[in-house]
Amino acid sequence: MNDFRLKLGEKEYVPIFVGGMGVDISTAELALEVARLGGIGHISDAMVPTVSDRRFKTNYVQEKQKKYKFNIGNVDKSIVQFDLQRLAEAQKLFVSRTMSSKKGDGAIFINCMEKLTMNSPRNTLQTRLIAAMDAGIDGITLSAGLHLGSMELMKDHPRFHDVMIGVIVSSLRALRPFLKRAAKFKRLPDYITVEGPMAGGHLGFGADDWHEYNLKSIVNEILDYLNQNDLDIPVIPAGGIFTGSDGVEYLESGASAVQVATRFTVTEECGLPEKTKQSYLEAVEEDIVVNTISPTGYPMRMLKQSPGIGTGIRPNCEAFGYILDSNGNCQYVDAYNREFEKNSKNISVEDKTCLCTQFRNFKIWTCGHNVYRLKDTTHKLEEGKYQLLRAEEVFKDYQFSKDHMIKLPERKNSNASEISLAAA
Ligand SMILES: Cc1cc2nc3c(=O)[nH]c(=O)nc-3n(C[C@H](O)[C@H](O)[C@H](O)COP(=O)(O)O)c2cc1C
Repeated sequence: MNDFRLKLGEKEYVPIFVGGMGVDISTAELALEVARLGGIGHISDAMVPTVSDRRFKTNYVQEKQKKYKFNIGNVDKSIVQFDLQRLAEAQKLFVSRTMSSKKGDGAIFINCMEKLTMNSPRNTLQTRLIAAMDAGIDGITLSAGLHLGSMELMKDHPRFHDVMIGVIVSSLRALRPFLKRAAKFKRLPDYITVEGPMAGGHLGFGADDWHEYNLKSIVNEILDYLNQNDLDIPVIPAGGIFTGSDGVEYLESGASAVQVATRFTVTEECGLPEKTKQSYLEAVEEDIVVNTISPTGYPMRMLKQSPGIGTGIRPNCEAFGYILDSNGNCQYVDAYNREFEKNSKNISVEDKTCLCTQFRNFKIWTCGHNVYRLKDTTHKLEEGKYQLLRAEEVFKDYQFSKDHMIKLPERKNSNASEISLAAA
């Protein structure tokens, strides 16, 4: 892939995006490393007050929970609102701290999901977008939703024409209305990420028909449409691109870069706990499911052994509440209340999961379809664990490898610390 370059605005990049992975799975550390290497890294603003509390010892979650404590037993969650000033503060803190550490020729973008409706979709999305621009983010990737109103939310910001803005779509049908609305504000996107059915996270396909779609055909359809309409917008395919050669196939057929994620879930810089990374490495193809337990209404791909499936934890909207829609409803809250009425002890909710608490605790193990191939990208160590990779090793493998080969990382000596202790 190193024979190609992505031109975005006035700058050139190694044509590799590492996709946003919330909540804090694509960490600032991962995004910074990708930027250092000349590509485009993503942070995600999913549950940014929680992320800020963890990283910077702020108190946003506790403060919100305290304010709404009186409502904990109430099934009606409509009163539980985010304080927009606090939300902006958390976003600015996270983005500005990340951007101030940036080195190298790459860029750092933020993934902003529209489906994170936060009990006031328009206001909370606008707050997050504006705060990210204020804090100096290089680009914004609009995801998980059609984003028909998002350009309007940003249009008065002084950086509206200078920050890179892209959108993730899974079909031409979803792209067309977005372009139409963007044209109204004389602000076409700077890039279009086309996410196919093999991707991780939420999918823009039906839970029953995702396997009937194929990334290459969707990308070609979108490239043709853009050509026919004289629209020169870089197209970035995503989902299932596992080797540098997979990437080159897209670049040779008209794409400008590729977006990848799953291979980076087992890097040291990724935010998943070490044990979860090992579960990703151990996964076999039969472990991967696409289900509808996400209360967003979108199907999601995950490992079926995710500990967050089928538990009946009490919704904690007073502290979190990211999936509450504009009327204060959430599919998990409804499912939980249904089970609670049947039997208030030993509650188990099979059909939905509490995305806030489970994602916060890394208990829903979403992954791309190729997760079962991760074990072929590293060494199995003597004690039975797999060696984690450095983000640089994965990035450079995409950048330089040929013929669908994967270069294994330099083998770490698993007994290194014991040996050096003995020598001391
Ligand atoms: C663990 C994980 C979490 C993800 N979370 C998000 C997310 O929060 N928002 C989003 O737009 N995409 C998300 N994605 C999708 C990726 O950004 C990316 O587009 C896709 O997974 C690329 O395909 P690959 O994983 O096969 O390389 C996630 C993917 C993974 C693997």
